[in-house]
Amino acid sequence: MKPYLFAAISAGFLATSFAASAADGPAILESKCASCHALTQPENSALDHVWERKGPDLYYAGDKFNKPWLVEWLQDPIRIRPAGEFYFKHVKKGDKVDVVDESTLTEHPKLAKADAEAAADALMALTGPEGLIEKGKFKDKKASPMAKMLFTKLRGCYACHSTGDGKGGLSGPELHTGGERLQPDFIYSYIKDPQKIDKSVWMPKLNISEQDLQNLTSYIVQLSGKKEAK
Ligand code: HEC
Ligand code: HEC
Repeated sequence: MKPYLFAAISAGFLATSFAASAADGPAILESKCASCHALTQPENSALDHVWERKGPDLYYAGDKFNKPWLVEWLQDPIRIRPAGEFYFKHVKKGDKVDVVDESTLTEHPKLAKADAEAAADALMALTGPEGLIEKGKFKDKKASPMAKMLFTKLRGCYACHSTGDGKGGLSGPELHTGGERLQPDFIYSYIKDPQKIDKSVWMPKLNISEQDLQNLTSYIVQLSGKKEAK
């Protein structure tokens, strides 16, 4: 190899390794993520935004996710929404019920460790408008034995969400990693009023008592993805 060529290659190598060790989170979000995710609150939050967006809104990511989960997931993204973004575009008629058309789903981009850490930091710095999430209302009680019953039977959550036992619906995000993935205050606020957080989302706003809200939140908080919920 000619010496100047070798020098050029090693300089290029050094430049890449330097870039990786000094990863710039906000720059990664802008260049690699903004094409699919809203990083600032969209002006138009009506139904066509939900219909047209290519990925979930991330402008309130710092109010929603647990950082350790983000760092892991960005390196190894495992599907959260069984039918991708979004449900109605990725299902076809089955014999009895609609089934997910897997061939229309794509893999999520992956980040290397240093980039995942930097992107997670930048995401945690994104917070939504004041009051979007109700902070401090959830009292962190142990889920009562009623909680699973509320989720699976009484309040119909199971129709759209799975909890890792192979049952449960497909049109909402899985919740069997809910406790690892989501902040308790976010879970509480979302169940209380989904449209306050995502104006045109199809999760119904139910009239749920404060006690049941606490119970449903506790139930999801203890779902860790590793074991089946009791
Ligand atoms: C081609 C479009 C596309 C690009 C580019 C993309 N994403 Fe995504 N992202 C998606 C989709 C679709 C989902 C939903 C995946 C699922 O539910 O399994 C998603 C989900 C996520 C989630 C979980 C959100 C939630 O509410 O559950 C995070 C966090 C995320 N992406 C971060 C990023 C970051 C950081 C980047 C840039 C490095 C990025 N994404 C680039 C399409 C994209
Ligand atoms: C008709 C379907 C439907 C029903 C019924 C439903 N949900 Fe949802 N839920 C959704 C959809 C759709 C989303 C958000 C979709 C997205 O972000 O892509 C959601 C989001 C959530 C989230 C936030 C999860 C996340 O990863 O962003 C929680 C927590 C949640 N639901 C809990 C519940 C609970 C508890 C019940 C029962 C009281 C319930 N849901 C009933 C469809 C439903």
